[in-house]
Amino acid sequence: MLTLHHLGKTFNGKPALQDVSLDIADGTFVGVIGRSGAGKSTLLRCINRLVDPSHGRIAFDGTDITRLRGKALRDWRASCGMIFQQFNLSGRLDVMTNVLMGRINAIGLMRSLLEAWPEDEKMRALRALDQLDLADFAGQRAECLSGGQQQRVAIARTLIQNPRILLADEPVASLDPRNTQAVMDALRDLNKVHGITVLCNLHSLDLARNYCSRLIGMKQGRVVFDGTPEALTDDAIVDLYGLEANDVLDVAERASGRAKTLTPALEFAA
Ligand SMILES: Nc1ncnc2c1ncn2[C@@H]1O[C@H](COP(=O)(O)OP(=O)(O)OP(=O)(O)O)[C@@H](O)[C@H]1O
Ligand SMILES: [Mg+2]
Repeated sequence: MLTLHHLGKTFNGKPALQDVSLDIADGTFVGVIGRSGAGKSTLLRCINRLVDPSHGRIAFDGTDITRLRGKALRDWRASCGMIFQQFNLSGRLDVMTNVLMGRINAIGLMRSLLEAWPEDEKMRALRALDQLDLADFAGQRAECLSGGQQQRVAIARTLIQNPRILLADEPVASLDPRNTQAVMDALRDLNKVHGITVLCNLHSLDLARNYCSRLIGMKQGRVVFDGTPEALTDDAIVDLYGLEANDVLDVAERASGRAKTLTPALEFAA
């Protein structure tokens, strides 16, 4: 169980997160939604301590994450795999080595620089690649893969750390629809098969509704919606996105005339 107690983060006197309290049960697939600047990335970054919260507390299975230092903090970061929009792979290195980089914390920087990877670690990396349908690409340079394949390599790199939680910050924002589906399906498989909790920032409401069991809507650093995709009503969408509400609805919904029902509410909101 991941618990956030009254979490807050201030940058240069401006609040990016305000009084965020959440309980996230193991195995949940959470979508974090909201406009640009709402605090979605800051929330994920506080959880893996890339950013130190200004207020409040984060606990995981009773351990106070906010107080971790040194090796305990490195171990925590390894156990919550972070996936970014830009993949963050080393393009010139082969796929296998990129995946093994996920184990630097466990193997040590020196051995990794010498590429003296233990055999069992190589097997582990191959298994992770296989799970993501990438075993055939193990020897190829990462930069030769498609965006969706590269993102799945990044997921494999976090998978070999045995993550308890995956924090994905707009993992499909730079992908075409086919690769988007492959990456979202891969996250769903890890969630369903391995029971890994996933927190995923998404700009697309359509994806959030299709893949997530719980949606957390953020606005100006606060949680203003917390519920199932079914509970996300048009009014809640207008509250979250304001004038951008129509833009975040998918093409199919617009084509079916659903967006028209939003227009009066938008005028009201404006
Ligand atoms: N390192 C930083 N220094 C200063 N301000 C920051 C920093 N990181 C975030 N902010 C500010 O905090 C607020 C929340 O930013 P955040 O990146 O969390 O939003 P977001 O919801 O992820 O937006 P987007 O959808 O554009 O990625 C914004 O006002 C942003 O300018
Ligand atoms: Mg962001």
